[in-house]
Amino acid sequence: MKIPLIIDTDTAQDDCVAILLGLLDPVADLRAITMVAGNVGFEQQTKNAFMTLSVAGALGECPVFLGCRRPMVRAWVSAENVHGDGAGGLTMDNSGIEPEAEHAVDALLRLTKESPGEINVVAIGPLTNIAMAVIKDPTFPDRVKSLYIMGGSNNARGNITAAAEFNFYVDPDAAKVVFDAGFDITVIPWEPLTIQDALFSRQHMAEIGAGGSPVASFFAQVCEATLDFDESVGIPGSSHPDSLTVALLLHPELITKSALYAVDVEADSELTRGYSAMSWGIHGLKANARVIEAVDAAAFFGYIKESMATPTTPSREILGLKR
Ligand code: BDR
Ligand code: CA
Repeated sequence: MKIPLIIDTDTAQDDCVAILLGLLDPVADLRAITMVAGNVGFEQQTKNAFMTLSVAGALGECPVFLGCRRPMVRAWVSAENVHGDGAGGLTMDNSGIEPEAEHAVDALLRLTKESPGEINVVAIGPLTNIAMAVIKDPTFPDRVKSLYIMGGSNNARGNITAAAEFNFYVDPDAAKVVFDAGFDITVIPWEPLTIQDALFSRQHMAEIGAGGSPVASFFAQVCEATLDFDESVGIPGSSHPDSLTVALLLHPELITKSALYAVDVEADSELTRGYSAMSWGIHGLKANARVIEAVDAAAFFGYIKESMATPTTPSREILGLKR
């Protein structure tokens, strides 16, 4: 049986790869893409999502809903210094392509009402849309089968500050609402997990890029900026936390170690804004999430390599795509 999912995304680089998995993996039933403010400009993120649909040959097959254009109470913080345009300079003629008229928060509420208890939500950007859905309808968590969150670090260093990972830093208020809402949550943290098990070296990247399909070329070009940035800050490869998050929902056998934690997010301090406190069971707190601690890194790489080699006929020409 296929796994129904909605991907809530700030589409740039690895978000594109995550969407590709949702489109190309035969076990995935991608019901919708919902857009949230995060990595790069909102309009650019939306273009990136449509271009990702196009390279998979799936333009028009999966609805794109536009959500919150800024965090709940704070100004938007971008990661354009990391991602550039988030699409490696690739472009596409977008004429006639329109997102759905319905707001992403309403779409999340409606789709889960139509299929209560069936749909998994994979949140790979700031948690604004998910929190707003909870605020609008507190019964939303009861209708979501599971919520997979890419965010935070497991008592380890951040990436946007020493204390915080980007997605939680951008909207810590939303993250607090979500962890308190009663979802069945799985967390895919930045450190140590992503750096330990979802990092692809230049050699790895070249192998995936040589896959011979439009998707493989797209992957190599789109992820180049992350590879350059990660290396510039001392991380020896390109990081893939968002695609790991989708992969673990679709293929739980990749998980080799996980544990229950009580997760909370700092929203008051400036110094540690977005810090995720993950309590591992000895502090008397009630667990609210499963945190992934280790995955089969070689199998994850093999899965991405194989997925990106899937032959496709792009729906529209991607300008600048090397073949
Ligand atoms: C997260 O932030 C974004 O830059 C990535 O897309 C990922 O979701 C990593 O901190
Ligand atoms: Ca993301």
